[in-house]
Amino acid sequence: MAKITYIEQNGTRHEVEVANGLTVMEGARDNNIPGIEADCGGACACSTCHVYVAPDWVEKLPAKDDMEEDMLDFAYEPDAVRSRLTCQLKVSDALDGLVVQMPEKQI
Ligand code: FES
Repeated sequence: MAKITYIEQNGTRHEVEVANGLTVMEGARDNNIPGIEADCGGACACSTCHVYVAPDWVEKLPAKDDMEEDMLDFAYEPDAVRSRLTCQLKVSDALDGLVVQMPEKQI
């Protein structure tokens, strides 16, 4: 279980508990948090689950694989360091305290 904070573009914060084994995208979806659309359902094929990870979390997350890296090119205003696709981030105790910010819009 990890407490994850999702921050909307307008600054609205959503702090929720997400079970281990789910993805950060599923944590948003299951809690009806706006700003993460996840059109492809988590297949790393749409980039509409894009977020900016809080700077102090960038190094703590597992590295992006090639597929995520490629798909991020299609995201809205990706940041080379902070952008991640939330469907590729698996929740575990190690993610407790994670903070992510949604972009102004998904593509
Ligand atoms: S949900 Fe489509 S890439 Fe993540």
